[in-house]
Amino acid sequence: MAVTIKSEREIALMRESCRLLAHVHDRLGEMIRPGISTWEIDALGEKLIRECGGVPNFLNYNGYPASICVSVNEEVVHGIPSKERILKEGDIVSLDAGLIYKGYHSDAARTYPVGKVNDAVARLLRVTRQSFFEGIKYAREGCHLHDISFAIDSYCTRYGYGVVRDLVGHGIGTKLHEEPQVPNFKQWRRGIKLRAGMTLAIEPMVNMGGWRVRWLDDDWTVVTQDGSWSAHYENTVLITKGEPEILTLPSGMT
Ligand code: MF3
Ligand code: CO
Repeated sequence: MAVTIKSEREIALMRESCRLLAHVHDRLGEMIRPGISTWEIDALGEKLIRECGGVPNFLNYNGYPASICVSVNEEVVHGIPSKERILKEGDIVSLDAGLIYKGYHSDAARTYPVGKVNDAVARLLRVTRQSFFEGIKYAREGCHLHDISFAIDSYCTRYGYGVVRDLVGHGIGTKLHEEPQVPNFKQWRRGIKLRAGMTLAIEPMVNMGGWRVRWLDDDWTVVTQDGSWSAHYENTVLITKGEPEILTLPSGMT
């Protein structure tokens, strides 16, 4: 299926879905502390999503067994919440969450420090988040899709980090994953021309070491091949003729 251009009505619904998700993320961020299990984060996440009238879109997606992906340290994405996995001081934890509201999907991820983390790790979190903002400088009508990919990649590699290649961002709307794929690393082609009304989930996954990843035996959890720690930052973004609208941030802006 081709890349969809959302109508004004659809954009309004995307805004609502994403605003609810932004609120869920804010609440989840407040509970990150040493001693909490990744299962508790998922349980609260599911409760918050349902309380605001949403439905968790990750739950049972291709058999994924939870509502929130909770990935710790060298886990890149799709960590499965567990009562046995307790966060401890100095860890980092990525929360990837999404919901459906009135038929429209939202998707966003944040990576948090657990208590105090060392300077190198703090920098990974800052750079990963900033790489998203470097990327969306090109998320506007008239630019090409892979301008975003290039901007994210070149910013991260400047710090010696590896940008994950096996997983990419995506279009989003009435489905969680729509066309186009949104790579976070340099591409040979320019990609499609961006147009107002496209909604994209842009989600750099950045490793302190090399870009290579592997899957654990649970067939979900993605970890870095070299064991280096990894961060993930994602928002659902609306392309316009001017500045992009970051739908899953409360203010819609930075
Ligand atoms: N943000 C992830 C993605 O875009 C969430 C999907 S994980 C799954 O693919 F659990 F839903 F599979
Ligand atoms: Co996504």
